[in-house]
Amino acid sequence: MKMQKAVKVSPTSRLIAPVRGRLRLACAIHAVGSAAGVAPFIAVAELGRALLADGEGSPLAAWWAAGLAAAALAVRLVCLMASSGLTHLADLDLQLDLRRRIAARLSKVPLGWFDTHAAGAVKKILQDDVAVLHHMVGHAYTNMIGAVVTPLVSLGYLIWIDWRLAAAATGPLMLGVCLYAFQFRGYGAKMDAYNAALGDVNTAAVEFVQGIAVIKTFGQAHRAYGRFLNSAGAFVEHFWNWVRGLLAVSAASEIALSPLFSVLIAMSAGLVFVVAGWAGPAEILAVIVLAPALTAPFLTLAFAQNEMMLAKDAAMRIAGLLDTPGLSDSAHPDTPAGSRVVFEQVGFSYDGETEVLKDIDLVLEPGTVTALVGVSGSGKSTLARLLPRFQDVDAGRITVGGMPIDAIAQRTLYRHVSFVFQHVQLLRISIAENIALGRPCASEEEIEAAARAAQIHERILALPHGYQSIAGEDARLSGGEAQRVSIARAILADAPILVLDEATAFADPDSEAAIQQALAPLMAGRTLLVIAHRLNTVTGADQICVMEEGRIVERGRHQSLLAQGGLYGRLWAASEAVQAAPEETVP
Ligand SMILES: Nc1ncnc2c1ncn2[C@@H]1O[C@H](COP(=O)(O)OP(=O)(O)OP(=O)(O)O)[C@@H](O)[C@H]1O
Ligand SMILES: [Mg+2]
Repeated sequence: MKMQKAVKVSPTSRLIAPVRGRLRLACAIHAVGSAAGVAPFIAVAELGRALLADGEGSPLAAWWAAGLAAAALAVRLVCLMASSGLTHLADLDLQLDLRRRIAARLSKVPLGWFDTHAAGAVKKILQDDVAVLHHMVGHAYTNMIGAVVTPLVSLGYLIWIDWRLAAAATGPLMLGVCLYAFQFRGYGAKMDAYNAALGDVNTAAVEFVQGIAVIKTFGQAHRAYGRFLNSAGAFVEHFWNWVRGLLAVSAASEIALSPLFSVLIAMSAGLVFVVAGWAGPAEILAVIVLAPALTAPFLTLAFAQNEMMLAKDAAMRIAGLLDTPGLSDSAHPDTPAGSRVVFEQVGFSYDGETEVLKDIDLVLEPGTVTALVGVSGSGKSTLARLLPRFQDVDAGRITVGGMPIDAIAQRTLYRHVSFVFQHVQLLRISIAENIALGRPCASEEEIEAAARAAQIHERILALPHGYQSIAGEDARLSGGEAQRVSIARAILADAPILVLDEATAFADPDSEAAIQQALAPLMAGRTLLVIAHRLNTVTGADQICVMEEGRIVERGRHQSLLAQGGLYGRLWAASEAVQAAPEETVP
């Protein structure tokens, strides 16, 4: 059997695969249109040859030439319309297809993926990068075909007239290309240096603007502003040094590639040829008319090339996003029977190297409260986030109601597990819709009841448009308030299993009391996994698991753990000391 050689397909080629057929057809039609675009010039040249021919000029030939020119223009019009229509329709289909595929992929990636991928960067891919492909699909391919066909057809005709004159007419193109290449020598390295200098300015600007409050507070505004000015100055100097040496070459290449220069060279060469008796005036006229068609499309080609490079970068980013591994979904999803949660020998690593969780065995009995405690970085949040599948485990498994969570359809899983985390995300939709995310068909009364139970109803009523205020626009909520909205969301979702991570982290004492009050109805009768830094909030838990370096090192109820005098005892003593500290400092 013959070995199959793996063919590496470029991201661009992969992305445009659905519209490739239409693009090829459009390019073929555009090639005909471009050739037809040269025909009127050839007709003018032929007209000149007919009228300047020795002996009697042929009016019939002149009429033929004029008729052909008109017909060619009509063909060009139809071809360009057809190719442009085809590429733009292909582009619209491709954009829609890509945005759908990206959205579908985003709905499959683990929720934890969004922690490390800023929303701005994802938006840039979804909107800007997809739009960059428009220039390639809608214009660049056909422009490149036109920029190659037009000079080739013109050159073919000129060679047919007189190969020596044709060779002379290519002079400006050769010169222009050489100057252009000279201008862009070492472009990659220079562009990298340019980007680095620009990056410095951006960093200094962001540093200055974002840190302005801190900078001003510490009286360092002049230093940060000075740093920004320095990098802006360095950028200007770098840019000027780069372009200064190129000004003359750039102007020279522009002149060499201009139609006027082509005509000038054609006329000069023609004069020499006529004086030497190598060619007649009719041939010279043909060269003068056609010579600009050899050089003019070169810049179009260069621009199209540039657009292709930008599109290639955009395609890489889009393909990277589309290749992001999604959560595995079972083909035959199961429905969990009950809300007993079991972690069996669970191991997890973010980077595939450092184990963040090791050998976790944990059972959450239905209707009980399990608290995770431990020093910062011991893996509490990571463990809690595995249950709603922010990430998938690397070793062992987690079951809900006897079913492995990756065998449960994601929708079903979220009906069984809800969560309230420290970094609350409110969507840019109304507060009512934010609360009803887990149960979109909830009635107004139900939404309001959930908000009341979460102690946030009064605050929502005080917003400019009450429950219809848009989060982030006319509803600007504090961290603690946003958390209570997310608690209302969890109350309404009414899932039997609830994961709470640092639910009171934002809170001042008043707000903490409100949040604890809000949590009370949510916690009743549910299977609860709660992470709390303030140990006094979890003394009543059915089991407390103490974590250290990714393992559960102690477990039991508050009193028995205290009696053991281990890590929990030390954490408890430390938290008591912190609580006592403010009183000690009061004079
Ligand atoms: N998204 C991430 N990518 C890579 N490493 C991470 C990520 N999130 C957490 N870690 C690492 O995993 C380890 C456990 O972090 P985790 O957030 O679970 O700790 P924690 O016990 O919740 O800490 P804290 O009490 O401060 O909230 C830490 O070493 C942390 O640096
Ligand atoms: Mg944490």
